[in-house]
Amino acid sequence: MKKPKAIVIYYSRTGNTQKIAKVFARTLKCKFLNIKENPKINLDKYNLIFIGSGIYGMKISAEIENFIQKLKNKDMNEKKYVVFGTYGGSKRGIKVMKEILEHKNAKVIGQFGCKGHDDFWLFKIFNVNRGRPDKHDLFEAKEFAQFILKIF
Ligand SMILES: Cc1cc2nc3c(=O)[nH]c(=O)nc-3n(C[C@H](O)[C@H](O)[C@H](O)COP(=O)(O)O)c2cc1C
Repeated sequence: MKKPKAIVIYYSRTGNTQKIAKVFARTLKCKFLNIKENPKINLDKYNLIFIGSGIYGMKISAEIENFIQKLKNKDMNEKKYVVFGTYGGSKRGIKVMKEILEHKNAKVIGQFGCKGHDDFWLFKIFNVNRGRPDKHDLFEAKEFAQFILKIF
């Protein structure tokens, strides 16, 4: 089995997805990069790539979607992908990330999602998902990353 050379790439508008990205990076002992600050990430030296986003207006971030859409054939060979995200109510967008990747022939070996405190308009006023991701979510994220390392 090849040793994983991992990287975590994410978009986070209000910080929730970043919390999960940090746990993954700590568990995988790798870098985590915000796509906004690093729009052109070269994946050549990585073989385990985590890609994550919050869900906004029922969609993943445009930055993450563009990044996935621009992946080349060379980004598929001998690389494994994992998708993750945080959401207010519907995790459908995480599956969409997986579907876009698979449409490009990427091998997706896992997906992780959890609720995130919703900062949008009335949802913010009503404190939807207050405190999420919480300790339990972060623990589950850690266990998930450990599982991915095992099956890699
Ligand atoms: C502008 C905006 C739009 C959102 N739209 C949705 C949505 O359509 N569906 C949903 O489940 N959550 C929605 N949410 C909730 C976010 O997905 C959730 O808070 C997520 O944790 C945000 O991730 P982030 O903190 O990494 O940006 C929205 C949040 C914001 C700020």
